[in-house]
Amino acid sequence: RPLRPFHGAHQSGILGDPVAAATIVAFDLTLAGKQALTRLLQTLTTTLRSLAAGGLAPSPGIADTAGTGLLGPSAPARSLESVVALGPAVFTDAFGLAAARPRRLRAMDTFPNDQLDPAWCGGDVLITLQGHDRDIVTNALREVCRATRGSMQIRWKQDGFTSPPRPTGHPRNLLGFKDGIAGPDPANDSQLESLVWAGDGEPSWAAGGSYYVIRRIRMLVEFWDRVSTSEQERMFGRRKGSGAPLTGGAEHTAPDYTNDPNGSAIPLDSHIRLANPRTTKTASSQFLRRSYSYDAGVDSVGNLDMGLMFGGFNADLDRQFVTVQKRLADEPLVDYITPVGGGYFFALPGVRDPKDFYGSALL
Ligand code: HEM
Repeated sequence: RPLRPFHGAHQSGILGDPVAAATIVAFDLTLAGKQALTRLLQTLTTTLRSLAAGGLAPSPGIADTAGTGLLGPSAPARSLESVVALGPAVFTDAFGLAAARPRRLRAMDTFPNDQLDPAWCGGDVLITLQGHDRDIVTNALREVCRATRGSMQIRWKQDGFTSPPRPTGHPRNLLGFKDGIAGPDPANDSQLESLVWAGDGEPSWAAGGSYYVIRRIRMLVEFWDRVSTSEQERMFGRRKGSGAPLTGGAEHTAPDYTNDPNGSAIPLDSHIRLANPRTTKTASSQFLRRSYSYDAGVDSVGNLDMGLMFGGFNADLDRQFVTVQKRLADEPLVDYITPVGGGYFFALPGVRDPKDFYGSALL
């Protein structure tokens, strides 16, 4: 798909389907005060704007280099999408922003079955960079780090990827199932207003932004690969091959819970049925999922360390992600997945034009 433009009411990396390569990086601020934060967000704006435009990033004035040079003398245009989000500690008196905090923003909750490692949790600034090519993403991260040195430092970083269609439709996650099928339609503005963009009850600067939940979820893949396909399908509620719901049809057919009230086709405790029971009452808990697979090598006892960088964009963190996560507590899938990190962030409203910058209405 063509990548989205940098300028607009919303950030470029939110609405589009996940692309081949991404990196998700949390930074801690090493600066003090609102003025320094403003300068940082201005620098991030010029850096990401120019990376998205192609050509060379502006020199931040260190040495006499013009850029990292990873992409040769000139980078291709429209090859990068990004999301810049802020963590809860930014909205405090230290930055004169306590009163401006998005009302749901806080340190990530710990849910039953979580085994959170503090080294993989939280952060003040979260940046997601994504593109069709890995080198574009790596170059963008290097430029961001180069331009912001002294203002923030990396807390954790996870590269992610998305499979191509196998053989058609949505990409498959590392449990082998098509992922990202159901959810709000990115072309339906009224759905996005109620499910993705923050609005009601939020400070006015936050309009056009979104609560961005990241969960680093390890998959116990060796264990999973010994489970029969039919049992795997009952855990999700969908066919592994086609992605179709177990009540029939194709990938995009809606699951038919009305004619399956006792869960004989799609078990009542399956992932999709718990996550979205498709009742009038639960419709407002849907949110936009934007996740990437990750492969982090091997753990200390020789098991593959891979999983999902689960991403979700929400108009209201509690009404949506938190409600869905609570419904999923103790689903059968918990034997095969373990959340180990992540955080709650607020994705800033988009940078509207060449004169605007991230958080201009906040600062
Ligand atoms: C649907 C996988 C974690 C919420 C799905 C589907 C798969 C899947 C294969 C069906 C296809 C689709 O509609 O996209 C996984 C895996 C996870 C994970 C492997 C962890 C490693 C989560 C978490 C949440 C979540 C943490 C939210 C708290 C949903 C929702 C749906 C869904 C809302 C759509 C249900 C519907 O509308 O029918 N997931 N998921 N998932 N998942 Fe997950």
